[in-house]
Amino acid sequence: MHASRDFIEGLPKVELHLHIEGSLEPELMFELAKRNKVRLPFDSIDEVRDAYNFGNLQDFLDIYYQGMSVLRTEEDFFDLTWAYLRKIAAQNVMHTEIFFDPQGHIERGIEFDTVLNGISRALDDGKRKLGISSFLIMCFLRHLSEEEAYRTLELALPHKDRIRGVGLDSSEVGHPPSEFQGVFSKAREEGFLRVAHAGEEGPPEYIREALDLLKVNRIDHGNRSLEDTVLVQRLSDQRIPLTLCPLSNLKLCVVDDLRNHPIGKMLDLGLRVTINSDDPSYFGGYMNENFIRITEALGLEESHLFLITQNAIEASFLCEVEKNALHRRLQDYRSQRSS
Ligand code: ADE
Ligand code: ZN
Repeated sequence: MHASRDFIEGLPKVELHLHIEGSLEPELMFELAKRNKVRLPFDSIDEVRDAYNFGNLQDFLDIYYQGMSVLRTEEDFFDLTWAYLRKIAAQNVMHTEIFFDPQGHIERGIEFDTVLNGISRALDDGKRKLGISSFLIMCFLRHLSEEEAYRTLELALPHKDRIRGVGLDSSEVGHPPSEFQGVFSKAREEGFLRVAHAGEEGPPEYIREALDLLKVNRIDHGNRSLEDTVLVQRLSDQRIPLTLCPLSNLKLCVVDDLRNHPIGKMLDLGLRVTINSDDPSYFGGYMNENFIRITEALGLEESHLFLITQNAIEASFLCEVEKNALHRRLQDYRSQRSS
């Protein structure tokens, strides 16, 4: 019997792959457009949702960068982040590690500090008022140069207390991790943890490069690792976490059907897989919706979902004491469900 909707909704969860700009719901997009007098190429919320039909990653990114144009003030970044946190609080998410794309804002003339202050003020409130712990991960846009990534890293150096790690996102094919080896090495020297999108559309070679050259702690997506048996063995031996995003993969045509999603095979192989939402506003769901849809498609059982959540706790950037506290909350849920 696959896990029920009710079980999933109550399950305490950990999210490790979420682009905060990708949580911008059309309603807030319109509100901010009005507040900031930004013209949108859409006349209604329905028209926005109708535009969310993507043939590949680039189709989505074009709309994603356009959507960001309404974010201008610290208050906007606060409102965006607070809306996401309220949403996940209602979905029993205990801890989240959030990407942001400063280059997508700096190139529009928005100050780095405006972005960071708005997001981190909401994250502080999230901890205080909702009990959700969080880390921020600053992504470099891989369609831009490594030199620009270096400049972005410089801006982050005074804020190490608020930025836990760096990541690599945007258009994957044609922009291999090797192009960012220098800046990741500098980020590592400066004490930042590291992740990179790899193997979403790009080949298994990009996953190897992310591991060997960028020295990442986790791989974001990693779907295409299954094409390479030597790589799979390595992911298994080294317990390397993969942050998978089922509804994203479906919307961006990385998979043609959730029944063919690689997480089923990956679970069979014992890989350290996690389930995440990526850009929930654009892909049709937050954590619960991702868990529910993949569970129904693959017939996942409660034991799979416990394992996936244990994986996410272990793969998080929390310290051992904090991880243990989350493991206990998960265990309490398990006991409560079986009694
Ligand atoms: N930026 C936001 N979402 C992304 C994704 N799924 N892949 C690459 N870059 C992204
Ligand atoms: Zn992503």
